[in-house]
Order: sequence, then structure tokens, then C-alpha cells
Amino acid sequence: MNYVLRDGRIIDPTSKRDEEADLVIENGRVTRIGRGLRAPAASREIHCKGLLVTPGFVDLHTHLREPGQEYKEDIASGTRAAAAGGFSTVCCMANTTPVNDCRAVTDLIVRRAREVGATRVFPVGAITKGLGGAELAEMAEMREAGIVAVSDDGLPVMNAELMRRALEYARTFGLPVVQHCEDKHLAAGGVMNESASSTRAGLKGQPSAAESVMVARDLELVALTGARYHVAHVSAAASVRLLREARKRGLPVTCEVTPHHLTLTDVVCCGYDTATKVAPPLRTQADIDALKEALADGTIDAVATDHAPHSLVEKDVEFDLAAFGMVGLETALPLLLGLVEDKVITLERAVYLLTAGPAQIFAFPEAFGTLIEGVVADVTIIDPAARWTVQREALLSKSKNTPFHGRAVLGRVKATLVGGRIAYDGSGELAQPGEGKG
Ligand code: DOR
Repeated sequence: MNYVLRDGRIIDPTSKRDEEADLVIENGRVTRIGRGLRAPAASREIHCKGLLVTPGFVDLHTHLREPGQEYKEDIASGTRAAAAGGFSTVCCMANTTPVNDCRAVTDLIVRRAREVGATRVFPVGAITKGLGGAELAEMAEMREAGIVAVSDDGLPVMNAELMRRALEYARTFGLPVVQHCEDKHLAAGGVMNESASSTRAGLKGQPSAAESVMVARDLELVALTGARYHVAHVSAAASVRLLREARKRGLPVTCEVTPHHLTLTDVVCCGYDTATKVAPPLRTQADIDALKEALADGTIDAVATDHAPHSLVEKDVEFDLAAFGMVGLETALPLLLGLVEDKVITLERAVYLLTAGPAQIFAFPEAFGTLIEGVVADVTIIDPAARWTVQREALLSKSKNTPFHGRAVLGRVKATLVGGRIAYDGSGELAQPGEGKG
């Protein structure tokens, strides 16, 4: 099926386009962008007046939980949630069971994603075997099988010598190394941020220095090796300061931030809602202010969800015992648009942070994150005026661990196209019979 997206406001930060125009999709690719375009043969028109038309979103940080923890999420449900959130591409983290540390597991994820995925799925391979932090994983064969980065996410690589070797090894394959920055000794036993709030809640805190100490160490290793390094879910003001300085020094470093670290302080943990328990922990207002500044000035390159589904078995327990993590794919866009409404960032920058920003960080085989003639038609259509309330039961993810239940938000995904195919159709009016897996 071919499509004409008629009269939408097309926002593509890469080509600096922000104008009302038509976008023609033929055989899965964007073929023409302009005003009053003639419809190609066998095409459908999608009326986009008043809607935003952007490149499909790219999430660098998703936990799809398959293989091994399908009771929390699987590739089918996770990518359906992704498409509903506007994402046409997700990168899935390696902390599955078994861990994605060899070709067999990467192959399995790639194959399952082709079979049942509503979106593109690019696996992230482990840095160390079994996430054990002791021995490097088989990066070469995983690269051949399709990984786009390496990370032990959920766990840091504590051994500095091993991290040095990981950076050197990954560099030979052009793979960025993604670090979950957390000094395990400083963070030990902490279930939330260490602050006045943790004292008030009577919960053990972990200081923000547990993150920034690791960032500082790694930046020295990046200077030593020249390897591409990416900080996952940056949360602390001190980390942002270090990263800003590193960029000024010309080091090849990037970082991402989650919508929740931009919008929730650690005060919410005082209600003991385990949906607010996440790693790294929610921080203070001063940290949020620093993150927002970095988002606006370009120190932060991407917004990533760290979608971390957990079932009631892991979450309907005491705060101390609950698993770390929250779902995020279906709430990322409206939370970011909230920052646009608050004039923290422009709309164009918000789109960049979800599209071209992340697309340039990992080793993707095709150029995603932009809408120019010839690219694969990964497109997100957004109603910027839709007001709605987040309801955990309505999420497409198998898990419902969101701290945003009941929050009134602005801006909603209407449809997501992946390679010219409708992967999500919020109105239920677009898909043809037999089209779309979502
Ligand atoms: O809160 C988190 N949950 N942070 C991580 O880094 C890992 C994730 C998970 O896998 O549940």
C-alpha cells in the first residue's frame, strides 16, 4: 500500500524542515515531500491537517525481556507498546535470560523480531559474558548477527581494566560502549536517591556520586582509548557537568536521559509507590534543572525510555524488596511535549531528541531519524492538541509499572509507520485488512 500524508506539519530537524506539506510513501520509502502532490497509484490518503508528521522515533534503551522473562514483556508486546508510543525503532538491552552475549541469542532476537515485531528491533549485546563483569563477551560474532552497541545495562562494568579492554575491543568493530554508570560500592543497598527525602522516607539512599564517580572514571578511559562511549540514563547534575567538559575536550562521548528523570523528583519515593523505584534513582530538583539545561544546550543527545517492565510479583512488595524499573514507551512523547509547553526546549528540539539525535549514536545499518526523499518510511503522526490521562490498564505493554498513572498529559501518537507499513493506528481507521502486525 502507498500513502499520501496530506497537509501535515512536517518536522524534520535534520533537513531543517518545519512546514505544512504532503509526504508521499511508495513501496515503503518516502518518495516526495511538497505541497499539493499528486497521489501515486494504489495509494490511500491520510488527512494530517493539524497533526505533526515526524520521523519515526528511535529508542536506544528498551528492555523487551525476551528471551526468558516473557511474563513481563516479549518482543511482540514490547514492540506494540513501542509503536503506540511513536517508536519505529527500539534497541533492546542484553539483560535477558539467557543474556545476549553470543551470536545464538542475538540471532534469536533478530529472528523473533522479524516474525512478530511491530517495529524495527536492534539488539544491544552484552559487554561481559553473562553480565558477570569478568570476561569480555563475543562482540565480533554478535556484531555480525546485528547488534548496534554493547552494554551490561542494569549493571556497571566495575573493573576499570576490563572496561579499558572493552572500549578497545568495541572500537575495532565501530560499536559504542554503553555504560550503566553506578559505582556498586557507593550505591550498595540504596533503594532511592540519598537526600533529605530518603531520610524522611526512612529508606536507604545511594548518593548521586555513585553515578558521577563512574562517569569520571570512564571519561579518563575514553581519553586513553579514543573509543565511542555512551552514558545510559544520565541522572545527576555532576555527571552532566563532566560530560559537558568532556565534549569540550573533544572526547567521543554521548549520553541519553529518560523522561522520568526529567519530570519526577525523589520526593515521590516518599509515598512508597514501587513504580517510582528505578535505577538510577529519581534525583533532586537541582539535578532535574541541570538535566534540562543540558537538554537545551546540546550536552544531552537523546531521550531514551529505559522501558523496564516488571510484573506484580516484583513490584507489589515492600519498597526495599521491589525490582528497579518502570515502563516508559507509551508515555515518553507527552512527557517530552510537557517540557515544550513549559518552554524548556523547542518542539523541533523535542523531535530531534527522539529521532535524529538517537539515530546518530548507535551503529545503525541504515540512516533513520530523518524524513528526506529516498529514506525508509518510518514516520510518526502526532496530535499535539490531544489531552488525555495516562491509565495503566490501557497500556499495551504486558507490565503496568508506571508512576504516571492518572497524570493528565498533552499530545498523543495517532499512528506509527514502519517501512511504509502501519504499525500502530490509534484511531483504528487506517490499516487495511491484513496490514500491520501491531
Ligand atoms: O531501573 C532499571 N531497570 N534500570 C536498569 O538499568 C535496568 C532495568 C531493568 O532491567 O529492570
